[in-house]
Amino acid sequence: MESFEARRQMLTDSLGTGYIILRSADQGSFNRHEFRPNNYFYYLTGYAARGSYAILSADPDANYTLSLPPQSIRTLIYDGGEISSQELIEQFKPDRVLDYREIRMHIDSIVKTGARIYMDRSDRTFYNDLQRMAGDQESADIRHIGELVDPMRVIKEATEVERIQKACNITALALTRVMKACEPGLYEFQMESLIEGTFLEYGSAMPGFSSIVGSGPNATILHYEPNARIMEHGDLLLMDIGAEYGYYTADITRTIPVSGKFSEEQRSIYQLVLDAQLAAIEQMKPGNMYMDGHMAAKDVIVEGLTELGLITDPASPWQIKFYILYPSSHFLGLDVHDVGEMGGSFSSFMNQTPQESMESRPLEPGMVLTIEPGLYFRENGLDQLFDIYGSEVDSMELSQFIKDVGPVYEQYMNIGVRIEDDILITSNGNINLSRYAPKEIEDVEQIMR
Ligand code: GLY
Ligand code: MN
Ligand code: MN
Repeated sequence: MESFEARRQMLTDSLGTGYIILRSADQGSFNRHEFRPNNYFYYLTGYAARGSYAILSADPDANYTLSLPPQSIRTLIYDGGEISSQELIEQFKPDRVLDYREIRMHIDSIVKTGARIYMDRSDRTFYNDLQRMAGDQESADIRHIGELVDPMRVIKEATEVERIQKACNITALALTRVMKACEPGLYEFQMESLIEGTFLEYGSAMPGFSSIVGSGPNATILHYEPNARIMEHGDLLLMDIGAEYGYYTADITRTIPVSGKFSEEQRSIYQLVLDAQLAAIEQMKPGNMYMDGHMAAKDVIVEGLTELGLITDPASPWQIKFYILYPSSHFLGLDVHDVGEMGGSFSSFMNQTPQESMESRPLEPGMVLTIEPGLYFRENGLDQLFDIYGSEVDSMELSQFIKDVGPVYEQYMNIGVRIEDDILITSNGNINLSRYAPKEIEDVEQIMR
């Protein structure tokens, strides 16, 4: 509760005549999933009930207003006893509590003054609601709360790190269990059930994002979600999963051989991705830049692919982009792709060739970010080259590449490898929060024996 109070204090001190207005979220979809509060609402209140609002202002008499969720005989019968005003004040420390109707009227009156309002603009329903309250007023000044809060959310406090660590530990256990249980003939969703069952068993109410459990060709689909194929001998199984714990999510990927042993081709691609990932993690320390990890991974991968004969010109931007599909890091926290500036655009990162230096943001202690290089040999990958680069690359050059690389590419067809860890930047380096999920080849094969 002290953390939440300190966060509110920091904001109200700089609000001037403006307001922060947040809502905890809708009822959610009927009969599906547990309720989960809006991230900004939770970050500033610590309160996780549906149908509640919070208003922050610099007004010393009403710094912090919280509302009771709508209460009725029906909610009492269906949802159980609700919290009282008194309990709300004792637990969450608002200056005052309004009921649902009162707070809606209060919000309406604030909006009509034309005061600046910060709210979560990704909550479209509530945004439209506020717009409607403002009526035709030209003066409605509705800003995104992220302007104020995202820089705070980027630097995690100890209590936040503890939750991410716990989420990582649960996720690592789930991955280890799959390593023990996995064998040809089982369905991907059987592994998914083992994963999400483990989450529940350890107090994670739900995954932080849809579990990706893809075998064989599905391992090459970045966001594969059906998880419905029968795994076969010789497949790789890629699992990109994350338990959510106390609203903070893990995001870990491991790739394993379904039958317990990597083939020679799988081994060489896996080791290349792992070497790239380890080189990247080494760069993740204060003073280095956000994208230094990505660039280190890129260097290793480009060199490795060139040696294997899969890249013919290591200085060719399009050849690199053909294999390296996304920047290898994102912030992690309440959201899996957490808020915060990375200090440059997606395309600037992607167009950078190795050895070039690049502007991004300096890493600071308390940041938590993923590092997730991967290589994916889609079955029809080379056929897609003309669709992807036809307009920017000479077709002779593409044809030559396909001719040179085709026979080698063939050997690696349907191999998809991603290795993803969650890294906390510390004062003198980093801590790998997902370190309990095995990833060295010998360790994985040993567990699967
Ligand atoms: N699972 C989404 C990601 O790794 O970014
Ligand atoms: Mn992931
Ligand atoms: Mn990720």
